[in-house]
Amino acid sequence: MVQTATKVENNRKAEYPIDPVFTNRWSPRAFLDKEVPEEILLSVFEAARWAPSGFNIQPWRFILARTEENRELFHSFILPNNLTWCKNAPALALIVSESETEQGPNEYHTFDAGTASGYLEIQAAKHGLSTHVVGGIDRDKAREVLQIPEKFQIQNLIVIGYRGDKETLPEILQEREQPNARRPLNEILFEGKFNQKID
Ligand SMILES: Cc1cc2nc3c(=O)[nH]c(=O)nc-3n(C[C@H](O)[C@H](O)[C@H](O)COP(=O)(O)O)c2cc1C
Repeated sequence: MVQTATKVENNRKAEYPIDPVFTNRWSPRAFLDKEVPEEILLSVFEAARWAPSGFNIQPWRFILARTEENRELFHSFILPNNLTWCKNAPALALIVSESETEQGPNEYHTFDAGTASGYLEIQAAKHGLSTHVVGGIDRDKAREVLQIPEKFQIQNLIVIGYRGDKETLPEILQEREQPNARRPLNEILFEGKFNQKID
């Protein structure tokens, strides 16, 4: 059975009102072998384009794989435990960020790439797509096969597609195929000084 919205709500209760897209988005591992229409797929990258960045440098770059040939190339650098569930997904994108400017190192590029990735994931969720960020990749291999210049730091891979049936996953992953919870707000938000709680 495909995970229901109710289950998502049970595990993801917001303490304050927020747009439901934030709590409804979660990272599944079961993906349908179903193509994402180009207009929709490109719109998620369009959303990423509008992320804020230090000095508006926009250091992020996305390398997309959606053809059989390109996806196979990407599969060659995904670590085996992730490849098990990634290989059905119709679109994979490697996020890289330019770590240097003409003036020297850009100390914000990692933060900026993360923001762009978040924008992408939320836009995808608004389209009814699922996404899953994958850090478990062989970055040296990715650099080699995709011919990524040294000044671009390889961030993470993002899997994009339609959520599938969890029964298609190996048993061990089926147990983990559910939306997870979050730390309470008062554990992550301080006021005035570090560790000073709001309430
Ligand atoms: C930088 C980063 C790296 C991640 N790497 C992996 C990974 O290698 N394999 C995996 O299954 N999930 C990976 N995840 C997914 C996280 O485990 C997941 O986002 C987290 O548990 C929160 O769950 P949610 O996205 O369903 O809300 C990664 C997520 C991020 C942001």
